[in-house]
Amino acid sequence: MSGIKVLFVCYGNICRSPMAEYVFRDMVEREGLSNRITCASCATSAEHIGDPADPRTAEVLERHGISCKDKRARRLTRSDFSEYNYIIGMDRHNLEYIRTLSPGDGFSETALLMSYAGGGDVADPWYSGDFDCTYRDVCRGCGALLERIKEKEGL
Ligand code: 4NP
Repeated sequence: MSGIKVLFVCYGNICRSPMAEYVFRDMVEREGLSNRITCASCATSAEHIGDPADPRTAEVLERHGISCKDKRARRLTRSDFSEYNYIIGMDRHNLEYIRTLSPGDGFSETALLMSYAGGGDVADPWYSGDFDCTYRDVCRGCGALLERIKEKEGL
């Protein structure tokens, strides 16, 4: 049986979406579903391509026992829509970009992460510097997304 693939998307792929990728992967591992669900993350912009995660994202993840040292930013491409079952934006601008690039029906399901947990955007730490607030949103959103996938896919 082919696995479920989830792609998290934000502007730079150095703060929010890598945090979602590593938190979600940790949740999937804890539930023993790593052979069924995989994930990755990418950017809408080209600004940080090839860069590691922002040190403040890495620090929050480290504090919760998660390493993201292998992460390098990459940009969303059209071929991702054939590869991933779910393409999940961190904020409404990301989702708008995702839907503009999408080939349309029959490809990835697209949504906002927080739409699974009551709505809104994941708090953007780039200007606020509040990475703990982002971490809380990401945990809530990823937990709800995982429940939704388990229910929908019968896992
Ligand atoms: P991210 O955060 O989209 O969560 O990775 C940002 C990273 C870089 C910039 C903005 C947000 N920037 O303007 O370069």
